[in-house]
Amino acid sequence: MADPEQHADFVYDQIEQHHDLFGTGLPMIASENCISPTARRLLASDFHDRYAEGRPGKRYYQGLEHVDEVERRCEQLAGELFDAAYTDTRPTAGTTANMAVFFARTEPGDTVLTLDTDDGAHISHAPIGAAGLRGLNVEKLPADPDRLTVDADRAAEQIREVEPDVVLLGQSLFLFPAPVEQLAGPAAEVGADLVYDGAHVLGLIGGGQFQDPLREGADVVTASTHKTLPGPQGGIVLSDKDPEEAESFTDGLDKGVFPGTVSNHHLHHMAAKTVAFAEHLAFGEDYAEAIVESSQALAGALAERGLTVLCEEHGYTESHQVAVDVGDHGGGKQLAQRLEEAGIICNMNMIPGDENPLDPSGLRLGTQELVRTGMGPDEMDQVAEFYARVILKDETPDSVAEDVAAFADRFDEVHYCFDPGQEAYRFWELS
Ligand SMILES: Cc1ncc(COP(=O)(O)O)c(C=O)c1O
Repeated sequence: MADPEQHADFVYDQIEQHHDLFGTGLPMIASENCISPTARRLLASDFHDRYAEGRPGKRYYQGLEHVDEVERRCEQLAGELFDAAYTDTRPTAGTTANMAVFFARTEPGDTVLTLDTDDGAHISHAPIGAAGLRGLNVEKLPADPDRLTVDADRAAEQIREVEPDVVLLGQSLFLFPAPVEQLAGPAAEVGADLVYDGAHVLGLIGGGQFQDPLREGADVVTASTHKTLPGPQGGIVLSDKDPEEAESFTDGLDKGVFPGTVSNHHLHHMAAKTVAFAEHLAFGEDYAEAIVESSQALAGALAERGLTVLCEEHGYTESHQVAVDVGDHGGGKQLAQRLEEAGIICNMNMIPGDENPLDPSGLRLGTQELVRTGMGPDEMDQVAEFYARVILKDETPDSVAEDVAAFADRFDEVHYCFDPGQEAYRFWELS
């Protein structure tokens, strides 16, 4: 049996290689991002080692006065950033935030209306995910294939007919705003909660560059804190219902998180979330604007080169994502692999008409991490050319990878944070 040091060396070595992969490539997975150097340092503090069930001032353990102070600040900044009367930053992921809301607002056997995963919804909305785990009856909302969102007119009719308990909007493939405003009325008429899963677009919402679901009528927003919101891995629950006026509603949400779905929340992540929210309050508007402009520039540049970018007639995208149909060029699975060999990291994705999630015809691209490391709309033409060289010109991935590495080398410092200029990848020395 190898001694522990050998295992540790093995892990260090793998992480160093992983840093090289990202440091010499183009990270374009739409659900990822890199945190700021300050936030990353906070992940290593002693907060990691502690327990703090409950809310500040209402704990079950001693030794938490400083944890309480930070957590109060975290909730305060989240409230400011998202203009939310109720915030809960304790969920450890977007999925647990969804579970907490299902736990709080539904009983087994209740009905939730949501898009199908084939139409862009997340697995936690599905019978085989968190919704199924809660025993919910999941019915599909009608999709609008032109904009890959919910068909608002048909959905309004369906809500009146089915009278669900929850209408769940928000997607993993999320190019255009969801019809929150159009569906808030029908949902309220039948007594359904309108829940908006903003996992992907939280940073765009915080930066004022996407829809604002709480102002448009969503009762609750759930999200991840590590996608377009460039914070640590984690989740969040938000509502505009004031705990003093809607105590039973917000108390229910609170219990859905603890003790419902989280025992000890991750205190080091909470510390890093605090800084991420503060940074987004300061820089989020510029960051989110550059993300959306870059996605639109990338979509246009890919289409100019002859690739089929979805939703052309609607301007391709209003988010951090771009969806490309590569069915005629070998399919998403094969191309995502070839692109990785060329240093471009993205993922295969189902697009309308696909039936096999393991061999879909689409690619989903995200610009949020490229922008985080200093790119903007001006660089997207070059990025599109790298895609074209692999997908259309059939160049060997190795030859493209060299050029990608030289290009990426100019963009590996974190931007839109308090201490910009530090390296995003490999900035902490391992040995
Ligand atoms: C729409 C949506 N909701 C929830 C999640 C889950 O987020 P997490 O990975 O933080 O659990 C995702 C993940 O990508 C998502 O796309």
